[in-house]
Amino acid sequence: MGEYESHDYDVLVIGAGGAGLRAAIEASAQGASVGLVCKSLLGKAHTVMAEGGIAASLSNVDERDNWRVHFADTMRGGQYLNNWRAAELHAREAPDRVRELEAWGALFDRTKDGRILQRNFGGHAYPRLAHVGDRTGLEMIRTLQDHGIHQGVSVHMECTVTELLTDGDRVVGAFGYQREKGYFQVFRAGAVVLATGGLGRAYRITSNSWEYTGDGHALAYRAGAELVDMEFVQFHPTGMVWPPSVRGILVTEGVRGEGGILQNSEGRRFMFDDIPPLYVNQTAKDEEEGWRYTQGDKNARRPPELLTRDHVARCILREVHEGRGSPHGGVFLDIAWIADKLQGAAEHIKRKLPSMYHQFKKLADIDITKEPMEVGPTTHYAMGGIRVNADTQMSNVPGLFAAGECAAGLHGANRLGGNSLSDLLVFGKRAGEHAARFAAENGARTIDDGQTDAAAVAALRPFERAAALGPEGLHGEGREGPYAIQHALRVAMQENVGILRNEAKMLTALEEIAALKTRAAGVAVDGNREYNAGWHTALDLENLLTVSEAVTRSALERKESRGAHSRTDHPDKDPEAGRFNVALRRTGDGEMQVRREPIAEVPTELADIIEEMK
Ligand code: FUM
Repeated sequence: MGEYESHDYDVLVIGAGGAGLRAAIEASAQGASVGLVCKSLLGKAHTVMAEGGIAASLSNVDERDNWRVHFADTMRGGQYLNNWRAAELHAREAPDRVRELEAWGALFDRTKDGRILQRNFGGHAYPRLAHVGDRTGLEMIRTLQDHGIHQGVSVHMECTVTELLTDGDRVVGAFGYQREKGYFQVFRAGAVVLATGGLGRAYRITSNSWEYTGDGHALAYRAGAELVDMEFVQFHPTGMVWPPSVRGILVTEGVRGEGGILQNSEGRRFMFDDIPPLYVNQTAKDEEEGWRYTQGDKNARRPPELLTRDHVARCILREVHEGRGSPHGGVFLDIAWIADKLQGAAEHIKRKLPSMYHQFKKLADIDITKEPMEVGPTTHYAMGGIRVNADTQMSNVPGLFAAGECAAGLHGANRLGGNSLSDLLVFGKRAGEHAARFAAENGARTIDDGQTDAAAVAALRPFERAAALGPEGLHGEGREGPYAIQHALRVAMQENVGILRNEAKMLTALEEIAALKTRAAGVAVDGNREYNAGWHTALDLENLLTVSEAVTRSALERKESRGAHSRTDHPDKDPEAGRFNVALRRTGDGEMQVRREPIAEVPTELADIIEEMK
């Protein structure tokens, strides 16, 4: 103990997706020394899974768009549980952040007159998503990465943070290990920004890769930060369902934004069965209108496939449950049909959706220019996360900031597609700026060796248990590795706290989580510390269990159906429940305490905007 690789920064950013990179760039621009920690390699982030675009009211395609409409759409999509200040800042600042990204080298698709092209997406009133084919998140990461490394940001790849370090009630650094070599690292910092993304790996079917185990949520929670809105987990309507090895991989909403339609096994566009009047006229079932809308016809009504994600996901589930699904348990998503409407449709599809074309060709042997895809809901995004001040992004723990998916507030009960990338830019910048300011004003503190040693002891426990079991115990009785526990948790969450929930199922989930916690406390791992995937999985388990419990307890507390949270035992919206957010905090004895936080009243000028847009 006591020998660690150590680093000193004004600002430490944990997580190197869009929010982390943007925060690091901003903190550095403010003159702070910045360390940027990535759980895997720089550039490998869930940001790239926001494929279809960045939402910002540039009004390049429809001049009726402006920040007010974007604000109202975001609030409506979030079913008015959003933090109104976050929604206001986001809608106001997103256009500048997109233009800035362009100035830093992002190559967006263009309109005929050379402006940034924007496409339609679910829940957005006008074509609002600035995009680069279906690789927008990738282009964003590439641009931020290029810009960031020229700002002198120090990057630590393959580093997993296991604990935040505190001095009194303030966060002063972090403790982690280097995955490749297995040694420990201590980071001392004036301020810490969490930008660790989501928790999709708590579910069996997900678009999230292995890194997304709710680390930031759990680190903040253990350090005393409040979590909020954890019941709202977004199930993106369209993930791949076949072959099994790729189940859950995202099929961008951009497919529907470009005219893709959803059909059941009877060939019916089932989304017409359940649509509000704003959309295509239900009785006329006018497919032509929807097609014209996706082509930018301002007078046409939007197709029902572009309803919000929570709604589309539930409709798909209904078709599957009622026996009208596709052979592998999804429904059909067809973009090939546009060949009837558009000359050169195949080339158009390949140009607008290149990743989808290659993904289906390579992984499923499907040519999407000729055949429909099979798709079904996949766990994609956590609306809930660390409670932060919308202006500064600081949590209730001094010195601890959060931005992007691991922070909460902007999206309320359901996020609109494309609002994630703009969220990362707007609030990543704000977090970096305010973290740098906090560090400058408050200085760094010393790190308590006792805390770092305790973190090291905790991290090494899985090896110690294996050693205590001895050679006989290695494969035999009394011995449990981390994978079976992780798998059991993901199955339990998928079954019991998925798209459709009820009290009995969620109580079952809580029991399972408690039993899995006991099993996780005995998990044993052997081998050495260098690139030991079993060890890493064992250490991720605690975070996964924490966020799973947080989602379940919050979902039990919300006795209604709203946005992404659908309860079969409380199928309607309850106006009373529309007045609070569910917040969680760790008590002194380690229990998870749930409380209802009243929603702050929306100021009159913003309430007027919402009313007007209705
Ligand atoms: O479907 C998509 O391209 C995802 C976008 C998002 O989650 O914002």
